[in-house]
Amino acid sequence: MPMRYFFLSLALLVFALLAIAGFRGSKTENRPIEIFPDMDHQAKFKPQTPSQFFANGSAARMPVDGTIAKGMPAQNDYFSTGKMGDKWGDGIPIEMDEAAMHRGQERYAINCAICHGPVALGDGIVKQYGLATIANLQDPRIRYMADGEIFNTITHGKATMNAYGANVSIEDRWKIIAYLRALQRSQNTVLAELPESLRAKLTPAAK
Ligand code: HEC
Repeated sequence: MPMRYFFLSLALLVFALLAIAGFRGSKTENRPIEIFPDMDHQAKFKPQTPSQFFANGSAARMPVDGTIAKGMPAQNDYFSTGKMGDKWGDGIPIEMDEAAMHRGQERYAINCAICHGPVALGDGIVKQYGLATIANLQDPRIRYMADGEIFNTITHGKATMNAYGANVSIEDRWKIIAYLRALQRSQNTVLAELPESLRAKLTPAAK
């Protein structure tokens, strides 16, 4: 290969390098050269812009009746929000029976026990792995907390606790709360409250 081809290609290479890299960082008033425009430019209407296409001249269409914004409760009632007016409400707003209680127990075990522990003492397995702030749900503060506020904590989380609204249906949240109330009762009952048959099974504490 004659030597001049070598010099020619070297000159071209230097030129190309300068042309591409040499102007990096410098400013220009011109539009940038787009080699791969991807999907940067599309035919579309931006929010609030007019359109001739629709009779009322507005490009934005009204949402269909009954549309619910993502993350918003379907209704504004106690069942969906835990609130009565602007205060936390109290009470389980669904029919509770044995099956519902079992469901609550199961959902508690799946969604809550890893952190709050099997009897809600705040001693679940996650605590051993470093989440130090896990609340003890047997604490009187939580025992006397309104059901609606606990509902809201499950739905949206609180401080260092994540939200579980996306994982647990509204019905199941109330069932979990009912079960949590049973757990709290189980740790805070007096002998006289127990049925006779259960009392007989207990051995008195050693003196
Ligand atoms: C990944 C761990 C984790 C899971 C799972 C979890 N929690 Fe919590 N929870 C926490 C932590 C941590 C706190 C303390 C939040 C704070 O005060 O920083 C807390 C606090 C709470 C509180 C007290 C909130 C307050 O007002 O102080 C309630 C009630 C509660 N959790 C209920 C539940 C229920 C019911 C579930 C199951 C649906 C659940 N948590 C699942 C970690 C968890």
